[in-house]
Amino acid sequence: MPATLYEPINVYKPIGPQLGIVDGPFEYLTVGGLKMPLPFTTRMTVARLENGDLCLHSPTKFDQRLAMELQRLGKVRHLISPNQFHYAHIAEWEKAFPGAIAWASRGVRKRARVRRNTVVFTRDLGANPPEEWRGDMDQMLFPGGYFKEFIFFHKASKTLILTDTIMNIELDKVDEPWRIAIRLTRMAYPGGQLFFGMRLPVMVQRNKAEAALLKIRSWQPEHVVLSHGRCFDADAGEITRRIFGQSRQS
Ligand SMILES: [Fe+2]
Repeated sequence: MPATLYEPINVYKPIGPQLGIVDGPFEYLTVGGLKMPLPFTTRMTVARLENGDLCLHSPTKFDQRLAMELQRLGKVRHLISPNQFHYAHIAEWEKAFPGAIAWASRGVRKRARVRRNTVVFTRDLGANPPEEWRGDMDQMLFPGGYFKEFIFFHKASKTLILTDTIMNIELDKVDEPWRIAIRLTRMAYPGGQLFFGMRLPVMVQRNKAEAALLKIRSWQPEHVVLSHGRCFDADAGEITRRIFGQSRQS
C-alpha cells in the first residue's frame, strides 16, 4: 500500500481556541542533497495570538489558497523553525508575507546556508517566550543533542506543540522502509514514543531532561500536537507520563 496523506491537505483545521493545524503535502528525505523516494508527511500548527497575529509553527509548503485562508484568520506574523530540520518552507512564506518575522532554532542558520536555502532569520528563539507571544504561549528548549528542539505550550487550548520530540506514525500511511524502521524504533501509532535519535542524548542529559519534564508537567497539557504521524487522542498527561516517565522529583 502506498504512503497516504492526512487529507485534506493545505487547509486550516481548528483544534481548539485560537489553535489549528495544517496537514501538508509529502516531504522527501534528502541524503547529501539528493531527494530520496521516501515520502513522509508533516504538519504545521497555527496559533492566533491575542493581538490577532498568527504564529506558523513548522510551516508546511506554501500554498496560495491556504495563505488566503490564514489571512482571514489573522496577520501572518511569526514563522517558527522549532528545530534545525523544520525550516525548508519558511522562505516561501517570507516572500509572501514580507513583514513576517522568521524565528531561528539552534543550528538552523548554518544548516539553511549549507543547503542554499534563501530563508532570512531575523530573530532567535530563546529559553523563554518572547514578548510577542508570552501571554499566549510558553516555550522551552527540549534536550536532544543534535535533535534538540523548542517545544511550545499554547495556553488557551492547553496544547503541547511538538515537532520531532515524539513521533506516532500510522504504519498504513507510510511505505517501506519507513515501516520497518518505525516498528524497530517503537514509534508506531498508537504507542508513539520519543524520537529515536533523541533517546541517547536525553539519557545522557538526564538532569536537563528532568527539568524539561517538570516544566511539561507544570503546564498540565490536555492535548499534544505532533508534526509527524497521528496526534494523540488520549489524555496528554497519560501520554507524557508514558513517554517521558515519572519525574524523580515528583
Ligand atoms: Fe521532522
